[in-house]
Amino acid sequence: MDGYSDSPFRRICKLVNPDIITVTEFTSADGIYHNAKQLMKKLYFHGDERPIIAQIFGKNMDTFIAAAKVCEDMGFDGIDINMGCPAKKVVKSEHGVALRKTPDLAFKLIETLANATDLPVSVKTRLGWADASDLTAFGKGAENAGADMICIHGRTYVEPYNVPAQWEPVYEMKENISIPVLGNGGILNVEDGLKKLGNLDGFLIGQATFGNPWVFLEKSREISFAEKIPIIQKHSQWLIDLKGEYVGTKEIRKHLVSYARGFPGAKQFRSELVRVDSYKKICTVLGRIAEAVEPVFH
Ligand SMILES: Cc1cc2nc3c(=O)[nH]c(=O)nc-3n(C[C@H](O)[C@H](O)[C@H](O)COP(=O)(O)O)c2cc1C
Repeated sequence: MDGYSDSPFRRICKLVNPDIITVTEFTSADGIYHNAKQLMKKLYFHGDERPIIAQIFGKNMDTFIAAAKVCEDMGFDGIDINMGCPAKKVVKSEHGVALRKTPDLAFKLIETLANATDLPVSVKTRLGWADASDLTAFGKGAENAGADMICIHGRTYVEPYNVPAQWEPVYEMKENISIPVLGNGGILNVEDGLKKLGNLDGFLIGQATFGNPWVFLEKSREISFAEKIPIIQKHSQWLIDLKGEYVGTKEIRKHLVSYARGFPGAKQFRSELVRVDSYKKICTVLGRIAEAVEPVFH
């Protein structure tokens, strides 16, 4: 997830559940083509994150071929094409979910990528542009073009993230194609995902992971803040190791704010966490939160 699922966060999720498959933030194939060195930094991953899929977006055959080579050289386990992103900038460039309006181009991209790499190729998309009427046809087209898996976010382009995801059209598509189908949208944790699984082959958890990698526990349970601290510290340390203390502490702030929710006085602590500029300060504030939430009796 753009801005969230970088290498340190993916490693944290794998600590919670080593059996998950991780996916990079979406990365521009054009960017890889023109500035591979810079984009390889964005695609960086640690061996602990395997199996790991690189997610790319774009609409240009040449840049997809170049991206395939970079992903192979970097040692990724698969390549996913983003055909679901609704961001204005992405849609305006006819990338992301805009490709659902040009299915022939979408299928050509899948075919080009599948021919350019031995890695498994998957596609992540939405139900459709304005409705799900062409979802099954899209799934069949993707399969015929060489996709090895398809992941469906159960909302259309026009629906905001807070409307409930629809699963029926995804189950129906699965009945009509042979490749694995994963569902996504509004899943709270593994148990919730299993309830929604139906005839699908798996599911993706997105926003529920923010500040809560414990959604990946096989059996959900209450986690005390004291128990969270070593994980939050590790997350902070890994980000700082990767990006340096100045950038790392800036980038960890949004995660810290997400971790610090759901207890009395959280708001005050969050206003401190958005200003941390060293690992030491992070640990100090976390320690104070732990004492406030679960007082230590001497
Ligand atoms: C901040 C943010 C960034 C996202 N970035 C990506 C991305 O890079 N690639 C992608 O396939 N989906 C991305 N998504 C969409 C999610 O992967 C997911 O499909 C969507 O949030 C619905 O699932 P959820 O309800 O579990 O969050 C993003 C969503 C959000 C809110």
